[in-house]
Amino acid sequence: MKVPSAMDRDAQFYRFPGPEPEPMGAHEMEEELAEAVALLSQRGPDALLTVALRKPPGQRTDEELDLIFEELLHIKAVAHLSNSVKRELAAVLLFEPHSKAGTVLFSQGDKGTSWYIIWKGSVNVVTHGKGLVTTLHEGDDFGQLALVNDAPRAATIILREDNCHFLRVDKQDFNRIIKDVEAKTMRLEEHGKVVLVLERASQGAGPSRPPTPGRNRYTVMSGTPEKILELLLEAMGPDSSAHDPTETFLSDFLLTHRVFMPSAQLCAALLHHFHAEPAGGSEQERSTYICNKRQQILRLVSQWVALYGSMLHTDPVATSFLQKLSDLVGRDARLSNLLREQWPERRRHHRLENGCGNASPQMKARNLPVWLPNQDEPLPGSSCAIRVGDKVPYDICLPDHSVLTLQLPVTASVREVMAALAQEDGWTKEQVLVKVNSAGDAIGLQPDARGVATSLGLNERLFVVNPQEVHELTPHPDQLGPTVGSAEGLDLVSAKDLAGQLTDHDWSLFNSIHQVELIYYALGPQHLRDVTTANLERFMRRFNELQYWVATELCLCPVPGPRAQLLRKFIKLAAHLKEQKNLNSFFAVMFGLSNSAISRLAHTWERLPHKVRKLYSALERLLDPSWNHRVYRLALAKLSPPVIPFMPLLLKDMTFIHEGNHTLVENLINFEKMRMMARAARMLHHCRSHNPVPLSPLRSRVSHLHEDSQVARISTCSEQSLSTRSPASTWAYVQQLKVIDNQRELSRLSRELEP
Ligand code: CMP
Repeated sequence: MKVPSAMDRDAQFYRFPGPEPEPMGAHEMEEELAEAVALLSQRGPDALLTVALRKPPGQRTDEELDLIFEELLHIKAVAHLSNSVKRELAAVLLFEPHSKAGTVLFSQGDKGTSWYIIWKGSVNVVTHGKGLVTTLHEGDDFGQLALVNDAPRAATIILREDNCHFLRVDKQDFNRIIKDVEAKTMRLEEHGKVVLVLERASQGAGPSRPPTPGRNRYTVMSGTPEKILELLLEAMGPDSSAHDPTETFLSDFLLTHRVFMPSAQLCAALLHHFHAEPAGGSEQERSTYICNKRQQILRLVSQWVALYGSMLHTDPVATSFLQKLSDLVGRDARLSNLLREQWPERRRHHRLENGCGNASPQMKARNLPVWLPNQDEPLPGSSCAIRVGDKVPYDICLPDHSVLTLQLPVTASVREVMAALAQEDGWTKEQVLVKVNSAGDAIGLQPDARGVATSLGLNERLFVVNPQEVHELTPHPDQLGPTVGSAEGLDLVSAKDLAGQLTDHDWSLFNSIHQVELIYYALGPQHLRDVTTANLERFMRRFNELQYWVATELCLCPVPGPRAQLLRKFIKLAAHLKEQKNLNSFFAVMFGLSNSAISRLAHTWERLPHKVRKLYSALERLLDPSWNHRVYRLALAKLSPPVIPFMPLLLKDMTFIHEGNHTLVENLINFEKMRMMARAARMLHHCRSHNPVPLSPLRSRVSHLHEDSQVARISTCSEQSLSTRSPASTWAYVQQLKVIDNQRELSRLSRELEP
């Protein structure tokens, strides 16, 4: 053992401070020696340990490795690691002493190179803009976040006292030994409260599996909105690509932020970060740090604008924030120059999907900053999108079935509708707004309910009535649906052409749905103040419309031969819809065919050729709901986009996520839930990618909105008849399907056909 020489090197740690000793006699020397030996035997293990730790790892003897291992058994930071991992650690740990309080071990924004365990002493954790956030003590560890996530340091670490001792593991060894077995959960505290809970993403991959991007990262499980944003900004390197896990983190955050961080809070936090100055470092380092941070903020904001686009028009907080930010950027010469060099190129590559977005007119009127995404590229086919600030027709029936049409904001509350009605002649104060379905059932509406016009069910109408007369209301004749079918006209159009026209129409409706509508829909109407789910509701209404259209047309076809012919056409239609990857309408038509009023028409089904019945059975397999619609999900996974998914299932998934998970856990935002919601919402993006969709000629947006209201009203049967073979006639027909949605009436008609 080379203890003496090593002891020499480490003498500073074992020499008592004070004046040089006086020369002493033999007896004194003997006593002194005995004392020293006793002391050494007490302190021996520590001394030997320090000696061992100071040696280059490769030179440690087995005894020394045992000694370090024994020590690790008592250190809190590694308590969760197995003994074999501790043994591996013993071979690589480095001893790093620091003598002076105030020493900066590393700074926020630095590249992570090591993981540290505090062996003796304590450190302060300091972040820019917040200062001291927490103190770590003996047995605690720090610095793993940057290593695991391959991100810059999230905080600055400063020695809180003199003579601190650290055990250090450098990145390469950390990655080899610890990364895969590091504590599953990490909790970051600020001022004694947990602000962020991170979990190592375990994807069950063993060391033999090739590394996949995003593996072995800490992902946010929960946190305060501000801390989640702070971590996101820190993680956003200037050059991350669309496949970077940080991009997914960014997308998760932006898609869901309104659930936990309203725009006002987000804008305030971003401005705070924009102004935050690092406490230490050279002038050069500080300026570089600020410039990087500001670029990250602009990148986040540009994605935010690209995602929400026109939704920000009506948000005064957002527009004033964007203006303020662009002024601040204009005053930062270094940043402005950098942006001019970088952004034209980046803008083309880094766009999240924009549901229907355009920049605010305010921003457009001024010179659009270079870092804002190009705003003139709405999704193809989204020109019929209903946006938050739009006015839509509110058709309100009176008990005598006269109809009053008001143009009101899509997000108007019932109270606002009533206030508008108060301006009309003949209105009395006591009247209430109710919605009435085709069976005549009336449901009262809460004064705070919003968006009632666009959330109406298929043949539902709004009525204004005196409360005592509600039970006397009868549905408007138009709500009852047609009395004559259009089988003859349908006979003129091939199933393939019909499927094509239906699909074109569906694409224009599907493209108008913003991804976040799915999230807001699941959260419920209390979140609808500044948002609308009108496009999603319209699409869902269309789903129901198609179902009932199939059932209605068959029930209104009195002669058995043509009815069987029509049934055959609908089955072929379903097959073509599937072929055209319009799974939503495929399901709708199939559901229509399986309506009890249709499935019971045994004689009609018997008339089908064997081949067609076989085709129907094959198509039916996709409807199998067992194992959570496994057959459908597998089929969908195999389809390459563009594809229109079976929307009710996507909504069901979203509702399950919302209802099955709390938004807050221990007073922190359950970001795991946000991630799940964002993933489901991104399904729309995926389905609409590669979207050179064959679109039929669309009317202007205004006329389309008007048309929608026309759909809500019911016209006479002759208006919807398919009189010619022309595509224009089919196009007009598919947009104005008239249906009976009263199941009792359909059953009655069905019994009339086949008693
Ligand atoms: P890392 O980002 O590598 O470097 C700074 C370290 O500080 C970080 O890893 C965490 O280990 C530690 N830390 C402890 N509390 C906090 C906190 N509230 N915010 C950020 N980092 C913290």
